[in-house]
Amino acid sequence: MISLKTRIALVTGSSRGIGQQIALGLARHHCDVVLHGRMLDHCAATEKLVRGLGINVYNVAGDLGTEAGIQSIVRGVADGPGHIDILYNNAAIMNPWTPVCETPLPVWLQTLQVNLFAVIALCNAFVPGMRKRCFGRVINLTSGIKETPHLAPYGVSKAAVDKYSQELAVDCKETNVLVNCLDPGWIRTDLGGPNGMFPVETVLPGALVPALLEDNGPTGKFFSAQDFKYFD
Ligand SMILES: NC(=O)c1ccc[n+]([C@@H]2O[C@H](COP(=O)([O-])OP(=O)(O)OC[C@H]3O[C@@H](n4cnc5c(N)ncnc54)[C@H](OP(=O)(O)O)[C@@H]3O)[C@@H](O)[C@H]2O)c1
Repeated sequence: MISLKTRIALVTGSSRGIGQQIALGLARHHCDVVLHGRMLDHCAATEKLVRGLGINVYNVAGDLGTEAGIQSIVRGVADGPGHIDILYNNAAIMNPWTPVCETPLPVWLQTLQVNLFAVIALCNAFVPGMRKRCFGRVINLTSGIKETPHLAPYGVSKAAVDKYSQELAVDCKETNVLVNCLDPGWIRTDLGGPNGMFPVETVLPGALVPALLEDNGPTGKFFSAQDFKYFD
């Protein structure tokens, strides 16, 4: 397990839900955190949780559904900490429950934009710097969702994230930029809904495992946060 002291992590979608827990977990490991929500004031609750832990905290805002929103995040990092060591692509949206052939194309486009293309855009923005500095951890949130055609855009977006992560991991081999996926489990959040199997706190400490990997450790792998939980 490496030390995260002096490292800087951007956690997209850390204003609530799983991302909030990830940001809190990283902060408890003395990692500086860049919090993100669609609007700056959405970060307030998470900021309150991590303040007082002796780390630097930055807030960035941007809608991952738009190019302007993505650029706002990239600019926020440039104007704040200047670079990113750990990129947690956590933010995502779930499409409305709809029969697959009745799901309109704009819903497919929006879901893939936020869940896949924005992930790629942020990797494009931050991975080259990680490679130059010979340190990086990229963690892309995936899902164990299986054969749920009413949620096809969401499921397809996560399958694509899995494949993209594996391609990026191969491309980053021997650079100490490790690219892995994390399945948090079915969690009771706004996205997971009230019937989720696990409370949000159970994503810790497992969600931190891919950030704490030793240099040149596993890459292109899938981690399950629930494998590491303290309680059921
Ligand atoms: N919950 C589950 O059961 C479950 C299961 C498997 C995988 N996952 C994955 O875990 C990750 C986190 O899910 P969650 O359950 O914590 O979700 P959540 O509670 O709905 O939180 C979503 C987060 O993403 C941000 N976000 C939403 N739409 C955005 C947009 N268009 N642009 C930028 N940010 C946006 C939200 O920011 P604002 O507060 O500003 O809206 C919020 O911080 C997702 O990748 C999800 O697919 C979740």
